[in-house]
Amino acid sequence: MEKKFFNHIIHGGDYNPDQWIKTPEIWDEDMRLMKLAHINSATISIFSWSLIEPEEGVYNFEWLDTIMDKLHENGISAILATPSGARPAWLAQKYPEVLRVNENGIRNEFGVRHNHCLTSPVYREKVRNINRILAERYKNHPALKMWHISNEYAGECHCELCQQAFRNWLKEYYHNDIEELNDKWWNGFWSHRLNDWSQINSPKSRGENHISAMYLCWNRFVSDSHISFYENEIAPLRELTPDIPITTNLMRMHTGIDYQKFAKHLDLISWDNYPGWEERSNIELAVETAFIHDVFRSMKDGQPFFMMESTPSLVNWHDVNKLPRAGMQELASIQAIAHGADSVQYFQWRKSRGGHEKFHGAVVDHCGHENTRVFRDVARLGGVLEKLDNVVGKYSNAKVAVICDWENIWATKHFCGFNNINRNYIGECIKWYKPFYDKGITVDVISMEQDFSKYDLVIAPFLYMLKNGTAEKIEEYVANGGNFAATYLTGLVDENDLCFLGGFPAGRLKEVFGIWNEETDSLPEGMKNSVSYREKQYDVVHVCDIIHSTGAKILGEYQSDFYAGMPAITENTFGKGKAYYIAFRNDDEFAADFCSKLINDAAIAPDCGIKTDGEIFIRKRGSNIFVMNFSEAEAAVYLDKEYTNTVSGEKLSGGISLPACGYLILE
Ligand code: GLA
Ligand code: ZN
Repeated sequence: MEKKFFNHIIHGGDYNPDQWIKTPEIWDEDMRLMKLAHINSATISIFSWSLIEPEEGVYNFEWLDTIMDKLHENGISAILATPSGARPAWLAQKYPEVLRVNENGIRNEFGVRHNHCLTSPVYREKVRNINRILAERYKNHPALKMWHISNEYAGECHCELCQQAFRNWLKEYYHNDIEELNDKWWNGFWSHRLNDWSQINSPKSRGENHISAMYLCWNRFVSDSHISFYENEIAPLRELTPDIPITTNLMRMHTGIDYQKFAKHLDLISWDNYPGWEERSNIELAVETAFIHDVFRSMKDGQPFFMMESTPSLVNWHDVNKLPRAGMQELASIQAIAHGADSVQYFQWRKSRGGHEKFHGAVVDHCGHENTRVFRDVARLGGVLEKLDNVVGKYSNAKVAVICDWENIWATKHFCGFNNINRNYIGECIKWYKPFYDKGITVDVISMEQDFSKYDLVIAPFLYMLKNGTAEKIEEYVANGGNFAATYLTGLVDENDLCFLGGFPAGRLKEVFGIWNEETDSLPEGMKNSVSYREKQYDVVHVCDIIHSTGAKILGEYQSDFYAGMPAITENTFGKGKAYYIAFRNDDEFAADFCSKLINDAAIAPDCGIKTDGEIFIRKRGSNIFVMNFSEAEAAVYLDKEYTNTVSGEKLSGGISLPACGYLILE
């Protein structure tokens, strides 16, 4: 499959010429340097509202006209931002309702960014207005190639407008029936039954904070508020520039917005990637980053995405900001491409002279010239990216999916019980993703609402909450020949965090898995049980279900405690497929060993025949194979046939040694 927004890999990043408006000679120097660095795109005007509308209704676009023209003259496309991420002081002063209110009911003062109410009609109107003016002005400008909406949507507001909006949201969700809400929130508990919608306020530490269903609704409401804020922002853009694609930059596994839902509203997914290389094990970070790339790639069924931000050197906001070693930035950028990115973009082009981010990495440092390590690295990578036109738009096809569902992220966080301090849902998803990445098998990371039928194997770690229809979907998938693996604490509650009655896992899943989960044990830190599986002993940590087989084959049993000898791993043939239940939390070693069995049972082949020594990652995208060495040591790669090096055109075969931070792109 293929979907292209551009014909080349986009190489660019956040560009803030608005900070240098008094020294326009810097703008010319920027153009010279951008060409040297093989930059073909600039994301502009992200935080420029106070410059483009210095007073209410007074507009100043001269500088932006000049920049748009300069970019175009230099063959650089403009990704033009809407400015809602930070507002001018006059706006906050004149209309205080636009400022965010914290959970204690205190309205923030003007300052920082992302400090706006999501509901305020005034703010929505002002944003729509400035966006319309931008679109009108630049709709025919040849540099304009994409819209970048606001910046990193996040946060929540507790003002009276938002409280009312929350009540309205609930009214709609619960069919205007307060008794339905009482039942779904189980409000008979602790005498919380409500008579009227007006009795509801946002959850907070000094108010209601023990109803997990309410927290879920609040998460959904805040997420929907961001989406409707976004829809309000893009309305004039859709009208005036219907052919210009729209994106907004998302942040890693940020849980404040249901990104899987938001994705449907974006033309293209883009995200900001700041792993903090060297600050932990680079291998661990590479796996985590690969997983997140795949989360974003899978949101639109494999459609290529943008890595909208990454740092060309260090960041300034980690506790300790380590410089990455030589080659790491390039390797990390290639990893993004391997996973489906059609861009390598940086925060930021040029360091700000002052302000909060003056020591954040940039392509151009305060020294102002190109004779720096970072600039040279960026320029070299730019040259490589220019050779990758045949990767642009290409998909990677996965036969395996790991479910990591945004609503389940919320649900696994909110409930009280079992092991309250070791939830780590996302970490568990990564644990079950890693064995496939290690083996060069492409994995999609999907929500529970996405299609399972295209996969040979679906793994659902800790699928505590099941949305409407999910249990039936799993049953159908397995009955039709799918392989489905679930772990401990699967299928306990519905979308309102109400427990399923009649035994876990929910409903007919007991037949699908051939088990019944009677109790769940939790193990304090340092306490372990163990499970025997294929002559090996594996640790049981944090949490484990005590299950009975009602027909499933028992593959492993607990070794100690009162449940010694009871099943811990089961396999059940159901219809044409198989369902596996792994009743305990374990470590990477078990996940790797058990995934080997799953891969074998489902007859899944690696994406290519290349073999390696050491921890080398291989990812196929379209007809290109990316081989990446994130380890500290040189490692051997054995090519199973002759390949062409996509970048150099050289023919390669046999054994090759790949240095630390080295990579190969082969066809
Ligand atoms: C975020 C923001 C940028 C910048 C960088 C710094 O991703 O979008 O504006 O603040 O962080 O790392
Ligand atoms: Zn508000």
